[in-house]
Amino acid sequence: MAKQRSWLPAIGLALYGCFWATASVAGWFADRPFYYLIRGNWINDLSQSSTRWLPPTETLMTGAALVFLLLGAYESILPLSGAARTLRACATAATRLDELTRRAPAVEDPIAPRMLSGSGELRVEGVGFRYAADQPWVLRDAELCLPAGESVALTGPSGAGKSTLAELLVRFQDPERGRVTIDGIDTRELTQRLLRGAVALCAQDSHVFNTSVRENLLLARREADDGQIARALAAVELDRWAAELPHGLDTIVGQDGELLSGGQRTRIALARALLAPARFLILDEPTAHLDAPLAARVMENLLAVCEDRGLLVITHDAASLEGFDRALRLEHGSIERRRAALPAALA
Ligand SMILES: Nc1ncnc2c1ncn2[C@@H]1O[C@H](COP(=O)(O)OP(=O)(O)OP(=O)(O)O)[C@@H](O)[C@H]1O
Ligand SMILES: [Mg+2]
Repeated sequence: MAKQRSWLPAIGLALYGCFWATASVAGWFADRPFYYLIRGNWINDLSQSSTRWLPPTETLMTGAALVFLLLGAYESILPLSGAARTLRACATAATRLDELTRRAPAVEDPIAPRMLSGSGELRVEGVGFRYAADQPWVLRDAELCLPAGESVALTGPSGAGKSTLAELLVRFQDPERGRVTIDGIDTRELTQRLLRGAVALCAQDSHVFNTSVRENLLLARREADDGQIARALAAVELDRWAAELPHGLDTIVGQDGELLSGGQRTRIALARALLAPARFLILDEPTAHLDAPLAARVMENLLAVCEDRGLLVITHDAASLEGFDRALRLEHGSIERRRAALPAALA
């Protein structure tokens, strides 16, 4: 983006020029170097001098007042340049927010929502989905059952619809055919708040906000204490990294997490999902950007800390499938069932 020009530095320079010129004139009148005016002992000095060649004291006072007035004026307008830039950025952000708040939501809450029993499965039943009527079907007749306490790996070629399926599970979109249920209840009959309290998604492109590590994590669970945060960070192998940060958990991660590596960003988002008090956890490419040994350790930790929950992990990493209870493959819009995780067969 082209850098905006500002006249304020030029005005500042001109004011400084005026300051020097006025001070010199005042000094010339006093027949003294002008720095006497600034050092503050000039009145005493004047009183000891002969008044023969001195202009009236009022003239000197006026000269000094003018100097300080100009100096004060310059300092008072100096921050305006930064404020003008901030104002432009705020106006652009406000326009974007306005566009977002006016956009029609993809899904809406039911008028009479139902409650969850808290003891059933998360299921995908004969789901068909496409992004628009003139676009190809992404999912055709997808079936999936995820009971609490079970871990399922989902693989499949790029573009097969794995992330789309994950979004349907948390109702970012509704299926055109079939239904997604939790505890036997269609997710369209639940409030989005209740559904997302029960099913947490760590998306493939999860966002890290321009705030502290702690605030980024607490988004998932406001009341989480330091012990819970430490366990979530340990599960994603970020505990030692966090301990060495200059301000610990209060270190700011920058716009879009720009002060983090790609792998650290992914794992902050993953730790956030782990903190969420949800019964079902959907993790879309949780080991992306990680080297193979680290990916293996993180996956092992995830399986251990999620043993009470229903865990669905979408991954291209065939080497990490061994610890899962089941491995599935999504291709041509439907999900193939497999008896066990067989990495060689799924690669
Ligand atoms: N918002 C969207 N609008 C229209 N089409 C989309 C949209 N998002 C995804 N698609 C299309 O849907 C199909 C499935 O995309 P999806 O992201 O679910 O694949 P994926 O299996 O997660 O791929 P990858 O393994 O590369 O992440 C792709 O053909 C993609 O182009
Ligand atoms: Mg994807």
